[in-house]
Amino acid sequence: MKVAAVAVLGLLGALFPCLKAQTSSPLEILQQAAANWTGTLPCEGWDCECAFKKPKGCCCVASPLFQLEEKTFMRMMGLWKDLNSLNNQIEEVTGGHNVSFAATMLPITGCYGPFNKNVSIPYCNVTLNHGYGYNPSLGTFTAPRSGLYSFSYTVYSNLGAEGERIYHKVQLMKEGQVIASSWEDNREDSEDSATQTVLLQLKRGNQVYVELVLGRFLCVDTQGYNSFSGFLVYPLSDI
Ligand SMILES: *[C@@H]1O[C@H](CO)[C@@H](O)[C@H](O)[C@H]1NC(C)=O
Ligand SMILES: *[C@@H]1O[C@H](CO)[C@@H](O)[C@H](O)[C@H]1NC(C)=O
Ligand SMILES: *[C@@H]1O[C@H](CO)[C@@H](O)[C@H](O)[C@H]1NC(C)=O
Ligand SMILES: *[C@@H]1O[C@H](CO)[C@@H](O)[C@H](O)[C@H]1NC(C)=O
Repeated sequence: MKVAAVAVLGLLGALFPCLKAQTSSPLEILQQAAANWTGTLPCEGWDCECAFKKPKGCCCVASPLFQLEEKTFMRMMGLWKDLNSLNNQIEEVTGGHNVSFAATMLPITGCYGPFNKNVSIPYCNVTLNHGYGYNPSLGTFTAPRSGLYSFSYTVYSNLGAEGERIYHKVQLMKEGQVIASSWEDNREDSEDSATQTVLLQLKRGNQVYVELVLGRFLCVDTQGYNSFSGFLVYPLSDI
């Protein structure tokens, strides 16, 4: 490189005294000299052949520039991918955790039931539904993502007077399977309540609900004591 530069400068030096006599500009003379140069032009990545021998409309660094552009583009694509995956991780840590619901039955002045089949209890008074996993018209929670969930329900029934038969059974269901249940069948109490809390590992789309078992009934709850709630404890990767 150095040798070639010195040689070109030498050529220019030799020509210098003649410059005034010529109409060509120093650059044109330099290009002429280069064009007359018979050795190789050791310019490495730079396209000297193009620059000196066909100068018009020619970019002597086109090839390295193109390579640089290519590299920069690939790097930007890499960064974009990293950024996306980071966003997803942040979503996992923050947004994905935002799943919780709480609902109670609407006031019952008479009795709810008995029915001739197991019925999913519609807890229609929804006070919390982050992540929109709970559907009040069905009384069903559908896991928006896989994870460990906590669910609680309270069953309450009031017959109003001793001697009446308190007769209920409710069960927490996951995909048609009984997970937990609470029941009463006696004439000693005029009212009764029970609460259950469970931890459940759910896959995305799994459904959880509370059923009133056929033939049983719940009476007089004007305060919304019959409740159903749940929340995501932590997410697990979708399988
Ligand atoms: C280049 O070569 C041509 C033809 O051989 C000659 O006329 C011209 O003077 C040379 N130019 C330089 C700058 O050496
Ligand atoms: C209703 O629930 C009871 C109590 O768990 C169970 O024995 C029965 O098989 C269920 N009925 C149906 C149709 O699932
Ligand atoms: C729903 O629940 C809230 C909070 O417990 C209560 O203030 C409200 O009266 C209930 N609504 C009905 C229609 O029962
Ligand atoms: C949780 O989700 C609810 C909507 O479902 C939204 O209003 C609330 O801002 C969210 N909270 C956080 C901390 O993301």
